[in-house]
Amino acid sequence: LISGEALPHGWRLVVLSEVDSTNDELRRRASEEPFDGLAVVAERQTAGRGRRGRVWASPRGNLYLSLRLRQADSLAETALLSFVSAVALADAIAELAPQVPLALKWPNDVLVAGCKVSGILLESDGPAIIVGIGVNLTEAPEATQALYPPTSLRQQGLTITVAEFAPVFLRHLSEMVALWRRGGMAAIRPLWLARAHGIGGRLIARLQDGQELVGVFEDLSPDGALLLRLPTGELRSILAADVFFEHQ
Ligand code: BTN
Repeated sequence: LISGEALPHGWRLVVLSEVDSTNDELRRRASEEPFDGLAVVAERQTAGRGRRGRVWASPRGNLYLSLRLRQADSLAETALLSFVSAVALADAIAELAPQVPLALKWPNDVLVAGCKVSGILLESDGPAIIVGIGVNLTEAPEATQALYPPTSLRQQGLTITVAEFAPVFLRHLSEMVALWRRGGMAAIRPLWLARAHGIGGRLIARLQDGQELVGVFEDLSPDGALLLRLPTGELRSILAADVFFEHQ
C-alpha cells in the first residue's frame, strides 16, 4: 500500500505505521476531505476501539481502516450503513477467500467458521459518518467481553495482506454504498439475508438495559431491526442488542 495513492474507485488512501485509532485520525483530517474520498489505514493502533466502548486490540498484521461517508438524510437511514458495510466486508472476504465459510451476524459482525474475524464501528462526525473496520488477517487477539471466539484468516489457512485486502474492500464498499443510495435498504436487505447467520434459529438478545429476551430470529426488518418471535407469540423488533445463538 502506498500512502497518498489514488485508487481506481475514487478513494485516496493514507497509510500510517501507527495511530491511536483510525477513526480518530479521520476525525482530525475532516477538513482535508469532508467525505466519500479519504480512507486511512494504520499498521497498528494504540487505542483501537470496538462497539460499546470495548477495546479493539490492534497488533501489526491485521487491517485497520476507516473512511468517511456522507450521512444519509435521516439518522435511521444512516444506521443502515452498518449492513451496507457488513455486506461489502463479506463480499471482499468471499472474493479473496472463496473457500471460507462466511456468515453475517446481526447487526454487523462477519463470522468465519463461527468465529469473529472482523468488526465494524460507525461513528458520526458532523455531516459525515465514519466507518471503521478491523479485519483479523494474521492475528486473532482475544477481545474483552467478546461474544464469540476470535479467529483470523491466517488461522483459516489464508495468507492475505493489508495491501491486498484494502483495495478490494474499498471497491466492494463503493459498490454497496452506490446500490444503497439508489435502492435503499430494499436493495441491501436481500444481500445481507443471503449470508445471515442463524435465521430461523433460537437466540438470546441482551438489550442495552441488560434485559434478556429469548426467541426465534425470524427476519430482518426493512429498517434493520432483528425481528424476534417470543415464546408468547409476540414479534419483537430489536434495534440494539448483543445476540447469542444457541447453536453456533
Ligand atoms: C467491534 O466489533 O466492536 C467493532 C470493531 C471496529 C474496529 C475498527 S479497527 C479500525 C477502526 N478504528 C478503531 O478504533 N475501531 C475501528
